[in-house]
Amino acid sequence: MPRFTISRLSLTALALAAGIVAMSAPGLAQGTDPAQIIRDRRDGLKTMGAHMEAMAAIAQARGDTRPAVERIDAIIAFFANFADRFPANTQAGETRALPVVFTDRAGFTTALTNLNGPLANLRSVAASGDSAGFGPALQTVGGTCGACHRAYRGR
Ligand code: HEC
Repeated sequence: MPRFTISRLSLTALALAAGIVAMSAPGLAQGTDPAQIIRDRRDGLKTMGAHMEAMAAIAQARGDTRPAVERIDAIIAFFANFADRFPANTQAGETRALPVVFTDRAGFTTALTNLNGPLANLRSVAASGDSAGFGPALQTVGGTCGACHRAYRGR
């Protein structure tokens, strides 16, 4: 009987721990208004574009790459749950997202996942202060952004 009690307690502790882990998983807090979701994702993307421009300036000047790490972390965080920013009801409206975003989720997710390697590489190049390697690594990231845009973003 004591044994049973102990295992019940452990199970409860495990379940609680699991619950806490699930609750702290990085979910995306966004409302349900489609126009607002579109505005938020476009605002976020504009910020990503600004990060890329700021880093292009560093690359061009062969400047200190270490301050770029913060920008790269912001980009990694934004794109971690990027697909969640395209719920089905945000297909129409003030958006340049093509219908294929919503019909080819697998391809869209692949184009998104393709960012991970180049971003991780850029981060380590930036953190190491390798100003000669920074430009090419940044270009690879930009190419991956562009690959998704060609397929999934209208003009
Ligand atoms: C998986 C696909 C995908 C990837 C990867 C991607 N984008 Fe985009 N991007 C889109 C889509 C779709 C839109 C159109 C969003 C809309 O209008 O609702 C967009 C729009 C934009 C815009 C225009 C925002 C506006 O409305 O003014 C910018 C800037 C942008 N992306 C920057 C980037 C940068 C920088 C990267 C790489 C670090 C990137 N994107 C990677 C899909 C992607």
